[in-house]
Amino acid sequence: MIKTIDVVSGETTGLYQYLSAAITPRPIAFVSTIDQNGNKNLSPFSFFNVFSINPPILIFSPVRRVRNNTSKHTLDNVLQVKECVISLVTKNIAQQVSLSSCEFDAETNEFEKAGFTEVNSDLVNPPRVKESPINFECKVNDVIHLGEEGGAGSLVLCEVLKMHIDESILGENNVIDPFKLNIVSRLGSNWYGKTTKESLYEIVKPISRIGMGIDNLPENIRNSKILTGSELAILASAESVPDKKSEENNLNTTEKHKKAKRLLKEGKSEDAWQILL
Ligand SMILES: Cc1cc2nc3c(=O)[nH]c(=O)nc-3n(C[C@H](O)[C@H](O)[C@H](O)COP(=O)(O)O)c2cc1C
Repeated sequence: MIKTIDVVSGETTGLYQYLSAAITPRPIAFVSTIDQNGNKNLSPFSFFNVFSINPPILIFSPVRRVRNNTSKHTLDNVLQVKECVISLVTKNIAQQVSLSSCEFDAETNEFEKAGFTEVNSDLVNPPRVKESPINFECKVNDVIHLGEEGGAGSLVLCEVLKMHIDESILGENNVIDPFKLNIVSRLGSNWYGKTTKESLYEIVKPISRIGMGIDNLPENIRNSKILTGSELAILASAESVPDKKSEENNLNTTEKHKKAKRLLKEGKSEDAWQILL
């Protein structure tokens, strides 16, 4: 059975829950802003991502409250002072970040409420967060309102002017090490994701090579009842069906596919191919 939600004909019950629990995991922008009177604000937004490298553009979206159609202070602030600092949220600060998302009044400084340390920014007025290992000083280039009703988002287009990276999260060749970074993501309801050795794995995709594609796999492999789509995709990442180099084996098709499955699990795709040929 498939549940459908006919949004076009006005069925919006549960839309927030379905959208926010389906589009996951989301990175979290911890956004520091100030209003025209200099009041500081710090709030998390998981409707967030990077959308351009040159120029470097990050976008987050404060959504109008469904309950009373009011706007978030962060949105009010970037319309007054077109600057912000976006910090990233790691496991050790996630609980404090959650605390900062309470509906404090506009004059309340969430740095103080949630126990964060302000560091003066170099190029913009809002301070950055000392406890976050990555901070982006940004100017706000544009704000695009997507609607006027409760639930409407406003895209805040932020151009990165300066990036601050704590070197302790860098690994070899000065590349950000995901295990050192320990980033946290947002899922539906109250769920968050951690970045652990158990939850991360690599998909090696040599950009120098063009895979043959699943449609070019020999039919008996493509229609296997034993190999999954992921396993077929590993085999189909080879440029072409390899030549048979190993001795003929006397396994039947089922046995071949089971053995290839085991080899693929061990990361031995060339050996898996040889069994299948
Ligand atoms: C992890 C997390 C992510 C959130 N993401 C969003 C979001 O993307 N958009 C939004 O409008 N509110 C989001 N919220 C809720 C806001 O942080 C919350 O409404 C906050 O009070 C807004 O503060 P402000 O009015 O000071 O800007 C999120 C809350 C948490 C804890």
